[in-house]
Order: sequence, then C-alpha cells, then structure tokens
Amino acid sequence: MMMMMRSIGFILVLALAGATLSPALSKKCSLIGQWRNDLGSEMDVMAVSSTGNFFGTYLTSVSSTDKPISVSPLHGSQQMGDQEQPTFGFTVAWSFSDLTTVFVGQCFVDDKGKETLQTMWLLRKKVDSSQDNWKATLVGTNVFTRSEYKSRGRAGRVL
Ligand code: BTN
Repeated sequence: MMMMMRSIGFILVLALAGATLSPALSKKCSLIGQWRNDLGSEMDVMAVSSTGNFFGTYLTSVSSTDKPISVSPLHGSQQMGDQEQPTFGFTVAWSFSDLTTVFVGQCFVDDKGKETLQTMWLLRKKVDSSQDNWKATLVGTNVFTRSEYKSRGRAGRVL
C-alpha cells in the first residue's frame, strides 16, 4: 500500500512538472503572423520558406518625411533547423519614400508561450553627396508582440 501511494505521488509530481515546463520547452517561436511594435507600427509576416526566407508587409506608424505613409513590402531571412528562438533579419525599402531600413533580431518565447521579437534597426536616409554620409543613418530598437486579435493562425502558411 505504501509503495503504491509513493508511486502515485511520484507520477503526480512528474505530471505537474510536465504541465509546468512543457510550454517553455516545446513551443517554437514563429515569425509568421501579425505583429505590432512599441511605436504602434504593424507588420505581417505572410510566409517562411523551408530555407528560412520570408516576406510580408510593414505599415509604419511614424515617418521622418512629410510624405503620406502607406504599406511597404518586407523581405528577410531567419535561421532554420532545430531552433526554438531563431535570429532573423529583414529589409523594408519604403514604398512612400526613398529610405531603407534593415532590422535584425531574435524571436523569443517565454515560459507562458508568449512570443516577442526583440529588434535593432538601421534607417538609411538618402543624402545628396558622400560629404553628407555622416548624417545619413539612424539607429534604434523596436519590440514586437503579436496582434492576437487579427491572428490568422499559422497553419498552411509555411512554404
Ligand atoms: C521614412 O521615414 O520615410 C520611412 C519610415 C521609417 C520608419 C522607421 S523604421 C524604424 C522605426 N520603426 C518603425 O516601426 N518605424 C520607424
């Protein structure tokens, strides 16, 4: 009887540990889907290929120009393989201005399964001559979280 109770106790402890740890251990961070950053910009990563190339759209909430903002295409690549928190990079050649931004970052997933993209960017402005090159690049960071309310899910969008 004592042995049986010990075994049941052991099984319960294992089950509890599994339930607590499994989301953190099993969930892979995926770039696919809709994201919003700390500035309120919106990004939609539509598909990731088997080699890690991806594309999507970016709607920035801010601009360094006076031109009306519109949606721009983005193209990037992420590390593939057995990576739960992959690094990635993508480029946005802004469709409404002659500027270009490159982002690099990492897709993190916390112990509750919540995904976050921590990024750093370089924004290249177009200047008239190489003498002005020194003032042509801005640098910054953005944190993206999922826009759950618009989520279309992930199924069927891995190329
Ligand atoms: C422009 O200024 O004409 C292009 C738009 C640049 C938007 C920048 S890119 C880095 C930062 N993160 C955003 O979401 N928007 C700004």
